[in-house]
Amino acid sequence: MTTPVLDIRSLDTTLHTPDDRRLHILHGITLTVGAGECLGVVGESGSGKSVLARTVLCVHARTTRAETTGQILLNGENLLTAAPARRAALLGTGIAMVHQDPMTSLNPVVRIADQVTESLTNRKRLTRRERLHTATELLAAVDVPDPARRARAYPHELSGGLRQRVGIAAALAGDPVLLLADEPTTALDVTVQRTVLDLLDRHRATRGLATLLITHDIGLLYGRARRIAVMYGGRVVESGPTEDVTDRPAHPYTAALLRSVPRVTGPLRRTLPAIPGSPPDLSRPAAGCPFAPRCERAESLCTTTALPVHRAGPAHTASCHFPLTPLERTP
Ligand SMILES: Nc1ncnc2c1ncn2[C@@H]1O[C@H](COP(=O)(O)OP(=O)(O)OP(=O)(O)O)[C@@H](O)[C@H]1O
Ligand SMILES: [Mg+2]
Repeated sequence: MTTPVLDIRSLDTTLHTPDDRRLHILHGITLTVGAGECLGVVGESGSGKSVLARTVLCVHARTTRAETTGQILLNGENLLTAAPARRAALLGTGIAMVHQDPMTSLNPVVRIADQVTESLTNRKRLTRRERLHTATELLAAVDVPDPARRARAYPHELSGGLRQRVGIAAALAGDPVLLLADEPTTALDVTVQRTVLDLLDRHRATRGLATLLITHDIGLLYGRARRIAVMYGGRVVESGPTEDVTDRPAHPYTAALLRSVPRVTGPLRRTLPAIPGSPPDLSRPAAGCPFAPRCERAESLCTTTALPVHRAGPAHTASCHFPLTPLERTP
C-alpha cells in the first residue's frame, strides 16, 4: 500500500486557555487521506473540526497553548516530532488551507497579486512584474474572469465568490500536497458554493492533491468525498466509504445527522427533524459516549464504559455500544 499523504494516529489535543482552563478537545482522532483523495469531515458546530485543522497546521489562537499527543504524519514524517526548521519547511510547502471566510484571511490593504503569490515570495524574490504575471496565471487557473485586472485589485473590489477563488489560488500557489478546506463555502450562496466546490474537485483530481473537506453539511459531501469521517464531541464516531456511511449509517449520531438533511431523492419531507438536545460541553468531559445524553438508543453502559469499535463493513467502523443493525440502517 502506498503511504497516505496525511496519516493521523491517536491524536489528542488539549487547549490551555488564557484563564487557565484545560479543555480536552480532540480524543484519539485517527484518519488518513491519500493522494488525489477527498476525505469529508462532518460534524455539528463545536465538534472539533476546526481544532483538528489547526492542530494539523500546528497553529492555534495566539493566546491559547495547545498540548498535542499522537502522530500527524505528512508523507510519513511526523509533524509533531520534527525539528522546528523541518516542521516549518513541511508546513510551508506541504500544506495549504482554504478558510471559511476569505475576507478574514485576505488582507484588505494588500493587492490581490501580492496575496496570491505570498507563499512563493516567502521562498524567492519576485519582481513586481513577475508577481503580477504569476498571480494572473493563478487567478486564471481558478476561473477568475479578467484575471490581469483582478490581480491589481483589492479584496473589497471582489464578490464573495471571487474572493474565495482568490483564497484557493493563494492556497494552490505553493503547490501543496495537502489541502485543508475548512467550511470553504459556508459564507457563499448555494449556486456559488457548487462552482467553488467543483473547482476544488478539479484541482484535487488534476494535481493529485489530498483534500480534507470540512463541513457541517453532510449533503455537500455526496459525489465529492470518497470517504467520510463523522465527528462528535471531538471524536471520530464513524468513518467509511461515503456510500456506506450515508446509505447504511451504523452510529446513531450519523443516522440522526442524515435525517436532518433534505433528501435529493424519495418523498419530500415537509419538516426536517433536528437532533434534540445540545452538543456536549467539552470543558466537562463525559466518560463513555459523548452522544449518550442525546441518543435514543443509549443505556447506562454508554455513560460509563469506553466505546468499542464496531466494524460495520470492510472499511466502515463506528464507535458505539449499540450500533444500528443492517435492517435498521436505511435512513
Ligand atoms: N482557542 C480556543 N480556546 C478555547 N476553546 C476553544 C478554542 N478553539 C476552539 N475551542 C473550543 O473547542 C471546541 C471545538 O471547536 P471547533 O472550532 O473546532 O468546532 P467546529 O467543529 O469547527 O465548529 P463550527 O462548525 O462552528 O466551525 C468548541 O467547544 C470550542 O469552543
Ligand atoms: Mg469550525
